[in-house]
Amino acid sequence: MKYFDYIDEDLRSEEVSIKDIAKNIPTPFYCYSANAFKNNFNVLKNAFKDLELKICYATKSNSNLSILNILQKEGAGVDVVSAGELRKSLMANISPQDIVFSGVGKTYEEIEYAISNNIFQINVESVSELSAINKIAHKLNLVQQIGIRLNPDIAGKTHKNISTGSLSDKFGIPFDEVEEIFLNREIFSNLNIVGIAFHIGSQIHDIEPFQAVFKKTNELLKKINKNEQVIKVLDIGGGYGVDYENNNEEFPILEYADLVKSSFDTNELTIVIEPGRYLSWNTGALITKVLYIKKHGNKKFIITDSGMNDLMRPALYDSYHKIVPVSKIKNTEKIPTDIVGPICESTDKLLSTSEFYDVKEGDLLAILNSGAYGSSMSSNYNVRPLIEEILIDKDTFSTIRKRQSFEDIIVQEIEL
Ligand SMILES: Cc1ncc(COP(=O)(O)O)c(C=O)c1O
Repeated sequence: MKYFDYIDEDLRSEEVSIKDIAKNIPTPFYCYSANAFKNNFNVLKNAFKDLELKICYATKSNSNLSILNILQKEGAGVDVVSAGELRKSLMANISPQDIVFSGVGKTYEEIEYAISNNIFQINVESVSELSAINKIAHKLNLVQQIGIRLNPDIAGKTHKNISTGSLSDKFGIPFDEVEEIFLNREIFSNLNIVGIAFHIGSQIHDIEPFQAVFKKTNELLKKINKNEQVIKVLDIGGGYGVDYENNNEEFPILEYADLVKSSFDTNELTIVIEPGRYLSWNTGALITKVLYIKKHGNKKFIITDSGMNDLMRPALYDSYHKIVPVSKIKNTEKIPTDIVGPICESTDKLLSTSEFYDVKEGDLLAILNSGAYGSSMSSNYNVRPLIEEILIDKDTFSTIRKRQSFEDIIVQEIEL
């Protein structure tokens, strides 16, 4: 589904022209469609319509409070990976009983904060972490529900930097150790260890890796649940691939939902999913201005006012984002072209292409499909401010995060 498209010459989202936003807001800025989040959530919800499951949005993909508010109203829970994400989710009125806390390196303070807030489940990634949570829960005189994150040793057939399911990755606990944990679960007097969790990676387009991990997990479930229903919660992660390249590579979500239903005893198990990108990727665009154009021999550089500090994915994962002009341009130029940012790094490249629109200095460009892992991964590198975020809702647009001022950036520094 396209949430940014041209009407006549103008790029629009919902009923708002991006050009009109840029008349009021200095570039670069992110803008999102509120209704895109709602639609994406409901596509997922409908795919699982006859199954009661917890859809826990991976807030790391985009954790703006207004966006969490939208998803909360649609009925989403969240998957968080830090006390910061947890605090924001609670501020957005996500019910604690709809929150799972993942991550390989939770601190004492983060665990204490999570337990005190009575969250649904902490997904644990090592035996040492399990002992630490037990001690903290004991001190608080509380019992915490726990999921054990498996490392299934199955790679998600994706970019090596976003694969998480192999033994060579830092995530999860190997299968044989997981069985041990369940056998000895009584040792952990302040933990209710009833869950299994996994997440094998991101941008997975095929159903096969999921089939493989479901099969392996089922064998483990059968062993552990042989005499009594010990495992009651199954958190099957996220990772559903989206079609950045526009290659007709839509994730087969209905087939996936059928696979979940046919693989597991859903009457006995509460199923949790943790989609991030699937809900947020195409909801947003990064709007930037062309500052300068230059040629080095037969190579053209289009230099924009937005770079890898605003959108890190191309530099980090070689990922592709389609870039289009905000006001339609008919002519293109066939010449090797790099669209680059202002950051002092050669990897600060937003796109390499053999042909691009014949843009002029001062033109506006939209870096599409930047709703996921865009703003949430941005940084102050080169002492550049975090940029403004705008939410479009039908024919209105509002600021949902202000651009940082220089004073905001410098306020924590202590000059000796
Ligand atoms: C534990 C966990 N769950 C869910 C996600 C969301 O992944 P995606 O955005 O690919 O759906 C991630 C992503 O890194 C993750 O680490």
